[in-house]
Amino acid sequence: MKKIIPGVMLLFGCAAFSAESPRERVLMDFNWWFHLGDAPDAGNKFDYPEVTDLAKTRLNEIGKGAKLVANLPDPVGSNLGADVSFVKPEFDASSWRKLDLPHDWAVELPFNTNADVRHGFKPVGKGFPENSIGWYRREFELPASDKSRVLWMEFDGVYRNSLVWLNGHCLGRNVSGYSSFRNDISKVANYGGKNVLIVRVDGSRFEGWFYEGAGIYRHVWLVKASPLHVVPDGTFVTSRVLGRNAEVTIETKVQNDSAEDVHCSIMTLLRDESGEMLVEVNKDGSVSEKHSASEVLVPANGTASVTQKITAVNLKMWSPESPHLYRIFQSIGNAGKLVDYVTTPFGIRTIAFDSDKGLLLNGKPYVIKGTCNHQDHAGVGSAIPDALQYFRIRRLKEMGCNAIRTSHNPPTPELLEACDRLGMLVMDENRRVDETTLALTDLSRLVMRDRNHPSVFIWSLGNEEGQLQGTNAAAQTAAVRLITPMQAMVHELDPTRLCTIAMNGGWGEGFTKVIDVQGFNYRTRNIDKFRAEFPDKLTIGTETASTRTSRGIYADDKPAGYVAAYGENGVEKAWTWWPYYATHPFTGGGFVWTGFDYRGEPTPYKWPCISSHFGLMDTCGFPKDIYYYYQAWWTDKPVLHLMPHWNWPGREGKATLVRCFSNCKTVELFLNGKSLGKQTMPENEYLDWSVPYAPGVLSAKGYKGIKLITETKMETTGALSAIRLQADRSAITADGEDVSVVNVAVVDARGRVVPDADNLIQFDLKGSGKIIGVGNGNPSSHEADKANERKAFNGYAQVIIQASGKPGVMELTARSNGLSPASAKITTVESKERLAALP
Ligand code: GAL
Repeated sequence: MKKIIPGVMLLFGCAAFSAESPRERVLMDFNWWFHLGDAPDAGNKFDYPEVTDLAKTRLNEIGKGAKLVANLPDPVGSNLGADVSFVKPEFDASSWRKLDLPHDWAVELPFNTNADVRHGFKPVGKGFPENSIGWYRREFELPASDKSRVLWMEFDGVYRNSLVWLNGHCLGRNVSGYSSFRNDISKVANYGGKNVLIVRVDGSRFEGWFYEGAGIYRHVWLVKASPLHVVPDGTFVTSRVLGRNAEVTIETKVQNDSAEDVHCSIMTLLRDESGEMLVEVNKDGSVSEKHSASEVLVPANGTASVTQKITAVNLKMWSPESPHLYRIFQSIGNAGKLVDYVTTPFGIRTIAFDSDKGLLLNGKPYVIKGTCNHQDHAGVGSAIPDALQYFRIRRLKEMGCNAIRTSHNPPTPELLEACDRLGMLVMDENRRVDETTLALTDLSRLVMRDRNHPSVFIWSLGNEEGQLQGTNAAAQTAAVRLITPMQAMVHELDPTRLCTIAMNGGWGEGFTKVIDVQGFNYRTRNIDKFRAEFPDKLTIGTETASTRTSRGIYADDKPAGYVAAYGENGVEKAWTWWPYYATHPFTGGGFVWTGFDYRGEPTPYKWPCISSHFGLMDTCGFPKDIYYYYQAWWTDKPVLHLMPHWNWPGREGKATLVRCFSNCKTVELFLNGKSLGKQTMPENEYLDWSVPYAPGVLSAKGYKGIKLITETKMETTGALSAIRLQADRSAITADGEDVSVVNVAVVDARGRVVPDADNLIQFDLKGSGKIIGVGNGNPSSHEADKANERKAFNGYAQVIIQASGKPGVMELTARSNGLSPASAKITTVESKERLAALP
């Protein structure tokens, strides 16, 4: 499908040409065939030796990765695997499973007590070869007319060690499961006929110490462009703010894949993100659109770069609170013909660090109220539909979070788009600290891909490199040897942002000596000492808290794998780090470990527990009590939250610890209408009462001075009665991708959520769509994520529903024995142009 450039007739000199885009970016997520397990005749052809530990760089293995593979034949040159049955275009894959991307096969596997605890007991990796390799196949047609174009595939991310073939020709290997990569297919494509794309994915090795998933878990695109085109990630937009205006600089690299030198014109327009024109009134009263036009000679089979400047007037700055976006629209012309068309969203904002004031956003001190997050969610693992990224970012924003750290790996680009649009700063993190070409290439791809995103405010080069960060002479040397070139490369590719690295030790040594911004992981008590020694060092709290709480659980329960929501069990309590950071501006703020629970790292317990407890929300995004501590101190809205729930039959008369999170100045607590006293809320803290339990109503009033600001209550509920459904969006796009996240609650006859309800709920979806996953946030649940049923966990569960390509109405019904059923209607509306699919 060709894309029509919105509402413009583009002019180059005096030649006018049609506004139909010559570039296409086609989403290739649909209609794949999948096979779990290696090809029977693969033998050891695809073996790829790597260092002992991919997660952390070992001092004695720096740079060793390259040596290990040095003698392997180049996969493209040797056409690796061409003789393997699965690679052959004529192979009959009809017995394979049909599916759409994004796809994570690890999340589909049953939990297994013998599997890796840190990866959440999913049977992939060491000991499970049969589950660790997967093959994907997709057929597609190309018209004969594409022969005059250049074509490439774009993979947003494949976990991991993937090989790609088209029509039996090997296109390359990509090792890291987190880096985006491209494969040119122009030379091996079949024009005017069928093409067979094959991807072998080897998830046998782990790159991290947390759940990572397996498979083509991010989008795949096919891009078609003219031989004369803007190179991928070849437009870099920066801006210099000058009062109410900004000078926007656009550097563009154009490639000429033809055998002749070509004169090309580059028309660059600055618009609002939606495409709305930005105009200026000229001195003579005429009006012209904000633009810059240039001419350049691009040599045969070469590239040329152009720098253009456009002034943005009446500037709207980007910030998390006001995420205004602009877009650069670029048309490449040759001999009066439009030959390429690309757009680049960006935002205008300034970022600086100050050793006393911390982070400055748009010139003003800005405290990072951040959360670290891994990329998985209930029901879908790491295969996250774009709409779910938006769901997660919205949940974080509601809590007052203004920044995320993509711990500990490059994110999918769609997450950054969500952060740009919704307003969320991002610490964009690299995976491997090493000096191999592979590691440096991954880092450079990350920076090239992400440097136009206004949300990205800093690069993180790595996390907790215990052997390198700097405690002995060898480590110090290694730290300098690795970080210096990595950081220099980042600065060259992106002179607008600084780098940090997350350190949980060796502060003041090694990495500290060379890194732009010192990253503090935990050890808040040591910051004063560091500050005294390094008063000029720029800093940020890269990782804090690691408080462990299970939603709705009020006593540690080791056999069940639950941790009490009082949050006493953890590395550094929320109420330790935040009061310090909030009152020490030089820190710049910090990132809590973590915003959401994630699969793996079930600390402090292991099996039967399969998920972490660090989240301020569970794996579904249901808030835990501790969420309200942060909401109270991170937002201006009145917050008054009581814990625990008030259903404690058999506890009558026993002292019960009632905790209140609030930003009111004073709080008065009542039990069944009787005051239990008023307390003054200390800044950045919380209040406790010891209350002899009696069923009924536990309530609180929050005051500022004598003014009542807000009230809340926690009631002893009645018997289980009904199910309640609430969709986050009741109308979604019928594009085969969009999802609605439906929260399920079990309530009593008066509609109050029953806090310990664990009823099994069956889901039935009618209409044009499907259930792609279920969850409940229970860190010890071994129920299937891909199912039409789920037990509630402490009152709640979640169903994720995906639209098909057909507009209509989907109706979800939830039933459970003894409960009144519930249903929710979700309309799917005709698909408009997918915003992310703009070239
Ligand atoms: C940190 C580490 C995180 C996570 C966390 C758990 O040290 O950076 O990835 O493992 O501990 O407490």
